Amino acid sequence: MKIADLKIPGNILLAPMSNVTNLPFRLMCRKYGASLTYSEMISADAVIYENKKTINRGISCEDERPLGIQIFGNSPETMIKAALRIEEIYKPEIIDINFGCPAKTLTKDGCGSALLSSPELIHDIVKELSENLSTPVTAKIRILQDMENTLEIAHLIESAGASAITVHGRTRQQQYSGKANHDYVRKIKQELSIPVIANGDIVDEISAQQTLEYTECDGIMIGRAAMGNPFLFKRISHYLETGELLEYKQCSQRVADIREYFSLLEEHELMHTVHVKAQAQWFTRGMKNGRHVRKNIDVAKNIDEILLSLDRMCKDAN
Ligand SMILES: Cc1cc2nc3c(=O)[nH]c(=O)nc-3n(C[C@H](O)[C@H](O)[C@H](O)COP(=O)(O)O)c2cc1C
Repeated sequence: MKIADLKIPGNILLAPMSNVTNLPFRLMCRKYGASLTYSEMISADAVIYENKKTINRGISCEDERPLGIQIFGNSPETMIKAALRIEEIYKPEIIDINFGCPAKTLTKDGCGSALLSSPELIHDIVKELSENLSTPVTAKIRILQDMENTLEIAHLIESAGASAITVHGRTRQQQYSGKANHDYVRKIKQELSIPVIANGDIVDEISAQQTLEYTECDGIMIGRAAMGNPFLFKRISHYLETGELLEYKQCSQRVADIREYFSLLEEHELMHTVHVKAQAQWFTRGMKNGRHVRKNIDVAKNIDEILLSLDRMCKDAN
C-alpha cells in the first residue's frame, strides 16, 4: 500500500488504542507482520503546553519505521502548532488526525468524533495540517448515521489534502456496540481516490479476508482483537498470503509473547506506565482455563507470580 510517497510494506495496520498500543506492544505487532503502527492518541493542547507525559506517547525507535503519530484537538490553530512540534521531535512518516473517538473526555471539548458534526471545521483542520506539514496527513473517522453525510465528510477530508483515510464502521452513538457497517466503508472506497483503510470487527483470518474482499479497501486496521494477541498479525498475514490457517500452539505462544512484552517494557523503561495486571489479563482472553488464571493474576504480588500462573495454565493445557 502507498500513502502519499510512502511505501507501506503490506496492508494490515494496528489501530491506535489509548493505554494499549505503547511502543513495546507496537514492536511486537510489527514483528508479527503489522505493516504500520500508530502511537496512542496525543492531545494537541497538551503538546503545546509541553506536557512531557503526553509528548512521550510519541516515543518510538528505528525498528518501528514507518511510524504514525495520532493527534486530537478542536481547532486548526492549536493542531498545526502541535503537529509541527511533533514533526520536529519525532519525524514520523505519518500524522493522523482523530475524528473518531467517542469518549466524553474528548467530545466535551469538541474533539474526536464531536468534530463529525462540524464538517467545515474538519475540512479546515485537515487543510491547515496538509498544507503546512512536510509529513503526510491522514484521518481516522467513524461513520455517521446517514450515508450521504458520511460520504460528504470523507470527500471533504480528501479535498482538504489528506493522504489516506481510515473508516471505523460504527457511529459515535454506537460507541463499541452493535456491528461495524462495512457497507459505508465500501461506498467510501468506491468514491475516493486516496487509500481507504477499513476498520471495525476484524478479529481473525476470515474476517480480515472478507473485509478486504467486500470493501475493496487498500488496507485493514485491527484494534481490540490484537489486545494481548499480537500474534494475530502473523496468523492473518499467513492466511492472506497462502490461503491456509497457520498452525500454532495458542497457550505457549501467548505466554512467550507476554514474556517478550514484559521484557520490552523493561528495556524501554516503560513498565511504570502500564497497568501490568490488566495487560496480563488480555493475554489470557479466549484461553482454556482463562478465567481461573485471571483470578490468579488478580491476586499475584509481582510479575514473577503472574508468569508462574501463566506457565501453569500452559502445562494444564498441554
Ligand atoms: C481501549 C481502546 C482505546 C482506543 N484508543 C483510540 C485512540 O487513541 N485513537 C483512535 O483513533 N481510536 C482509538 N480506539 C478505537 C480503535 O482504534 C478502533 O477504531 C476500534 O476499536 C474499532 O476497531 P476494532 O473493532 O478492530 O477494535 C480505541 C479503542 C479501544 C478499544
